[in-house]
Amino acid sequence: MSLGSDRAQSGLLATLAHVRYASGVTGEELAALMDRPGERLLARLPAGPLTPAQALRLGGRLRAEHPAPLVAAAMTLHNLRWRARTKFRLADRMVFTREGLEQASSERMARHHAARFAGQSPLADLCTGIGGDLTGLAAGRPVLAADLNPVHLRMAAHNAGVYGHDGGLRFVGANVREVALDGVEAAFVDPARRQGGRRLRAGSSEPPLPWCLALAERVPAVGIKASPGLPIALVPPGWEVEFVSERRELKEALLWSPALARVTRRATLLDGGHHLDAADDPGASPPVPCAPPGRFLLDPDPAVTRAGVVEELARALGAWKIDERIAFLSADTSLDTPFGRLLRIQASLPFQLKDLRHELRRLEVGSVDIRQRGSAVDTDDLGRRLRPRGDGRATLVLTRVADRPWALVCSPAAPGNGA
Ligand SMILES: C[S@@+](CC[C@H](N)C(=O)[O-])C[C@H]1O[C@@H](n2cnc3c(N)ncnc32)[C@H](O)[C@@H]1O
Repeated sequence: MSLGSDRAQSGLLATLAHVRYASGVTGEELAALMDRPGERLLARLPAGPLTPAQALRLGGRLRAEHPAPLVAAAMTLHNLRWRARTKFRLADRMVFTREGLEQASSERMARHHAARFAGQSPLADLCTGIGGDLTGLAAGRPVLAADLNPVHLRMAAHNAGVYGHDGGLRFVGANVREVALDGVEAAFVDPARRQGGRRLRAGSSEPPLPWCLALAERVPAVGIKASPGLPIALVPPGWEVEFVSERRELKEALLWSPALARVTRRATLLDGGHHLDAADDPGASPPVPCAPPGRFLLDPDPAVTRAGVVEELARALGAWKIDERIAFLSADTSLDTPFGRLLRIQASLPFQLKDLRHELRRLEVGSVDIRQRGSAVDTDDLGRRLRPRGDGRATLVLTRVADRPWALVCSPAAPGNGA
């Protein structure tokens, strides 16, 4: 790349400085934006994300009036607010660091967490971060908010104010291990799963899970936010583990101490607030039959699979399993449930390339979306070798039926329409 004039070169360097700054902005600089000059500067930025050309033009103009680090921090916050709007209704008035935003619970998730603490007061929000959870936990009760990152804590105080939670909050900038919890009736802890911009090893957190679990020896009721990959074996007896998904994406595992536990395992869909619980006494429930696929296939939500309540779902729907070890259910009538995605089975056959190709041609399927469960087939290679012809589209499910490799050619099914 050749650079034209000195002016062009200094403009480019300014942009590069901005880019480097944008990815590594310090919380202290961002916190400066919460003061009046920062607010005035932010008010001058246009709605929506800035294109690189806009950032270059605007950045040049603003740097003539404000210190360069403040301008760069303003642009960073502007972009973070734009990204945050999927998590927070009031994102355009909140403050974030990138790491704080990425780790924050959304407003909706925070409300879900807070609902379990109904009637519990005062509460401790340990590892408060930028205050995502606090937006829900602080509604109508005093909260002690603690985090060792002073910038996050300051942001949490600002963000709580944006949500109208001004009174009864106490912010403690300290290691949660050293925070006195006398008089606290319940605690919520969301330990860090990243440090210094890096994800910690799977299963690790700061503070670690054993410390979080031991909180229940000091505080009557405890809730812990953990990774969705949490091994169920780590859940102590008497505690509940709740797996929460949103739009079929598994978001988190929540651990509830005995005082807050309602069941042993629960799958919750944040959309609609539906939940499905593990049976109290699995031995007392009738076994779920296992049989070849019928007219419909149900692909359970990941929260259902993770919580190990696929059998409970089958019993509730009168469905059956197609294989002892595969989490697909089947039925001959349409199933109306939020707990899974329903497909209509158009063809069901043992997996053989020649037969499958023949079925796709018979059904005039020209393009397939391949899903696998319990199959190790190379789907790119299969897609090429199938050479489908026709105008139709289908979902090709590669799985196992009675432990044999199997293929199901499916189309979407509207729940309740069994015709
Ligand atoms: C996952 S974030 C919390 C997110 C928060 N619940 C929210 O919704 O915004 C974890 C936070 O824990 C803090 N943290 C990590 N170890 C800590 C410790 N030992 N004491 C206090 N805070 C800690 C980090 O500074 C970070 O802000």
